Amino acid sequence: MQIIHTVKQLRLALQGQSPIAFVPTMGNLHAGHLDLVNLAKQQAACVVVSIFVNPLQFGANEDLASYPRTLAADCEKLAAAGASIVFAPTVAEMYPDFDGQNLNQSLTVQLPAMANDLCGASRPGHFAGVATVVLKLFNIVQPQVAVFGKKDFQQLLIIKELVKQFNLPIQIIAADTAREASGLAMSSRNGYLSSAEKVQANQLHATLQTLVEQIKLGPKDLDFSALEKQAAHTLQTQGWQVDYVAIRSATSLKAASAQEQEWVVLAAAKLGATRLIDNISFKL
Ligand code: PAF
Repeated sequence: MQIIHTVKQLRLALQGQSPIAFVPTMGNLHAGHLDLVNLAKQQAACVVVSIFVNPLQFGANEDLASYPRTLAADCEKLAAAGASIVFAPTVAEMYPDFDGQNLNQSLTVQLPAMANDLCGASRPGHFAGVATVVLKLFNIVQPQVAVFGKKDFQQLLIIKELVKQFNLPIQIIAADTAREASGLAMSSRNGYLSSAEKVQANQLHATLQTLVEQIKLGPKDLDFSALEKQAAHTLQTQGWQVDYVAIRSATSLKAASAQEQEWVVLAAAKLGATRLIDNISFKL
């Protein structure tokens, strides 16, 4: 496995390689990321994994500085998983006008209204930062296939929209969320949880599961807004600070109608200082 830090070196290494399957990450890899790599390996012999903590997608008061950076351990895991190339650029490599302070990325992707909803409402600019770096990475790696996790469900839909509206010749594959035995969705941010919080953290998934069961019983006579409030209240009484609990169409992310065929229930909430997200998508 090659570890490459510059765009120039990566382009050289990828010359003549086709097809390429790509897994973009911010590192601090867990079993969920390795599932993405395994899916990528089923698509192409050449698997590129990027590790880049993208400053453009972090808000001013978010965890950019403390975000775990574990490149050596990540590379060991990726070598064992059978990745071909790790692309781990510096901030200056990804943002050519970076002056040590400001990224000066004055060209960014402008996103549809959906990006201002749910996580986008409490993280303004987050998804524009994600879409911009993913477009840059797509241009650098030029993969035929790219794999993203369903855990970041809103991100996944935005990337699919990016590919569609910018006519990118890339197939997007969605990987199921990897979970701890408790049901807690695997996330690099789980490392911020105290051991007591980690025991409690499965409540987020459990609350979503209850919602799914309620909807599956028959959505026709349900008051979705009341159900969302009830689920949020359950989490609040357990000590969570709830950002949102939402019942949506899994294709548009708009409020679900009773006739919906593809559903997703999503939640974001803080346990102590750690903001966690989770979702369950299902068909009826
Ligand atoms: O999901 C992530 O880890 C990031 O948002 C991504 C897609 C690597 C872009 O920085």
